[in-house]
Amino acid sequence: MKKAKIILDHDYTIAKIDPRIYGSFIEHLGRAVYGGIYEPGHPEADELGFRKDVMSFVSKLNVPIVRYPGGNFVSGFDWEDSVGPVEQRPSRLDLAWFTRESNAVGLHEFHRWAKKANSDVMYAVNLGTRGADAARNIVEYCNHPGGSYYSDMRIKNGAKEPFNIKLWCLGNEMDGPWQMCHKTAYEYGRVANEAAKMMKWVDPSIELVACGSSNTAMPTFGSWEMQVLDECYDNVDYISLHQYYGNPTQDTPGFLARSMDMDDFIHTVVSICDAIKGKKHSKKTLNLSFDEWNVWYHSNEQDQEIWKQDKWNNALPLLEDIYNFEDALLVGSMLMTFIRNADRVKIACLAQLVNVIAPIMTRNGGGCWAQTIFYPFMHASVHGRGTSLRALVDSPVYDCVDFEKVPYIDAAATQADDGSVTVFCVNRHMDEDFALDIALKDFGKMRLAEHILLHHDDVKAVNTEDNPDNVAPTAGPGGVIDGDVATIKIPALSWNVLRFEKLS
Ligand code: AHR
Repeated sequence: MKKAKIILDHDYTIAKIDPRIYGSFIEHLGRAVYGGIYEPGHPEADELGFRKDVMSFVSKLNVPIVRYPGGNFVSGFDWEDSVGPVEQRPSRLDLAWFTRESNAVGLHEFHRWAKKANSDVMYAVNLGTRGADAARNIVEYCNHPGGSYYSDMRIKNGAKEPFNIKLWCLGNEMDGPWQMCHKTAYEYGRVANEAAKMMKWVDPSIELVACGSSNTAMPTFGSWEMQVLDECYDNVDYISLHQYYGNPTQDTPGFLARSMDMDDFIHTVVSICDAIKGKKHSKKTLNLSFDEWNVWYHSNEQDQEIWKQDKWNNALPLLEDIYNFEDALLVGSMLMTFIRNADRVKIACLAQLVNVIAPIMTRNGGGCWAQTIFYPFMHASVHGRGTSLRALVDSPVYDCVDFEKVPYIDAAATQADDGSVTVFCVNRHMDEDFALDIALKDFGKMRLAEHILLHHDDVKAVNTEDNPDNVAPTAGPGGVIDGDVATIKIPALSWNVLRFEKLS
């Protein structure tokens, strides 16, 4: 058996983990809303038409924020269409996804759904076809107590209490030519700055996320962040990062190493933020909102076929990636990347939540089930709270097409407020188990309370409505503790959650 080692010390911490790194995303796209969270007439629908079976899966993920309503969708969206009596709301063409938006679910309905899910809304404003004026008006609609045009409109529409939405995205992926009213960095930086000023004048308690790059392959990546932040640094609180990975060449070791690219991405953006801070002699440190991330590639061809046959319909089954076991491993490594960067990544949104590149799937009129990626997300969200610990990992490494010295053992560790320690770990080795020594220094006497394991012999194994537990967590082999060193067996190609509790 191969060997690796992790050293944890009670006093070596990275930062408090912001729970919002376990956020997610619902866009008016495909069957995320219609046929996903909302399906009136379904046997599981509640009085508002929201599916209770979907809600119970969402609740298990313990998602503190949900980004809404887009995504690319938001860059052509008039928020005013989504409020007021449902029967009077217009049906619009959505040029982002070539579908039709009925607006049957709008701001009030989504806010109620989010409350039921115990989540806060992270609302994206349209800085594509709209601008600063529409942005400040929706802040007034949502957050002003009353006695003004838009706040009174909210009250008339049935919400006496303000929604108090605290976190806002200043548009979406404005660096991308696919975006409605795509902008240069200077154009976007200017409008983001003006919108930010006006939104904060309406409600100074809000926080704002400026658009960073859509991914690391964008030709403007780096210069975009510099120029945008040069314009709006003083008035925004976060810069966004988006990144999706795929495995079209079926190279599992290379695919599993992609989280190293994510780590580089984070460090590059942190450096740019700090360079602008220096340039501006600012006292403010800008943090990161990784508000779209996931694996996304399985559904690409299917989407082209759908559009060939059926444009402009409501709720086309778009971006319905069926996730396999290796996708769950990479999602686990991406989550650990956020935990290890908890000092600067304060928000992250798994894109998305239901049906659209999502951990939760539904069939219209039918069942609801968890995809493979559901599990690492749930484990990290439930057990990865508290303080991020600096895990010193000593592991054998491998080389692959895009990366050198990829550690077989990828790990992160957290300490909860009750003193318990959780070690998350992916074994990237295709066929070797590891004996992993974990030194727990200065934590007092600990016991291994639980070893949760996600493994399947077939990296391409998936979950379906008929076989929903094909890839599901089981109890791991565990190990022994000798003094302050635990030795745990970590099977080849596996996601592991090791929960240590204090012995009283
Ligand atoms: O999440 C799907 C899409 O990916 C979003 O609409 C867009 O922001 C990104 O390109």
